[in-house]
Amino acid sequence: MAKHKLGIVVGSNRRESINRKLAQALAKLGGNTFDAKFIQIDDLPLYNQDLEQPVPDKVVRFKSELAGSDALLFVTPEHSRSIPAVLKNAIDWGARPWGKTSWPGKPAAIIGTSGGAISTAVAQQHLRAVLGDLGLQVIGGEAYIQFKPELVDAQGNVTDDSTRTFLKTFIDQFAGFAARFQPNKVAAAA
Ligand SMILES: Cc1cc2nc3c(=O)[nH]c(=O)nc-3n(C[C@H](O)[C@H](O)[C@H](O)COP(=O)(O)O)c2cc1C
Repeated sequence: MAKHKLGIVVGSNRRESINRKLAQALAKLGGNTFDAKFIQIDDLPLYNQDLEQPVPDKVVRFKSELAGSDALLFVTPEHSRSIPAVLKNAIDWGARPWGKTSWPGKPAAIIGTSGGAISTAVAQQHLRAVLGDLGLQVIGGEAYIQFKPELVDAQGNVTDDSTRTFLKTFIDQFAGFAARFQPNKVAAAA
C-alpha cells in the first residue's frame, strides 16, 4: 500500500528551531506510514491583498505543495501566547485568493514545543480554531512537548523513552486518521 504524502509546516523561521527538530523526529518516527516533505513558509511575502493578482511565484509553489499533500502536520512554536506571524502569514496565503483556498478537507494534526511549563498549549488552541474555521479536519487530542536540550539528537532521534513512545503513538494515530480520508493508503504502523 502507498504511504500518505505528509506536508509538514513548521511555524518557525529560526535556523536552530526546536520545532523543526521535533518535526524531523516525527517525520522519522512516522516513516513507515508517511512520506514526509517539509513545506517552506519563510520565503512567502507578507500577505497583502494587492499582491493577489497575479499570485507571487512563491505562493504558487506553496499552494501546489499543499495541494500535493494528503495530510498536513503543523509543528508550531508559541509567540506571545499565540501562533508566530510567519505561520499566520502562510495560513492566510493558503486561504487566498478568494475561491482558491487550499485548506478545506485536509486532514491535519497540531503539535509544538517550547521550553515553557505549558509548552505551546495556547498557540495550539489558537491554531486549532483558525484551521477549523478554514475547513481542515483536525485530529483531536493534545500534544504539548516541553523541550529540553538534547531531546532530539543530531540524527533526529528522540532520546527520552517516554517522549518517544508518546510521539510514536501521536504520529501513528494521525496515520489512522488520515487513512479515513485516503482509504487506499497505509492506516497504521506495520
Ligand atoms: C516573540 C517571542 C514570543 C515568545 N512567546 C512565547 C510564549 O508565549 N510561550 C512560550 O512558551 N514561549 C515563547 N517564546 C519562546 C519560544 O518558545 C522559543 O523562542 C522557541 O525556541 C521558539 O521555537 P523555535 O525554536 O521553533 O522557533 C517566545 C519567543 C519569542 C521570540
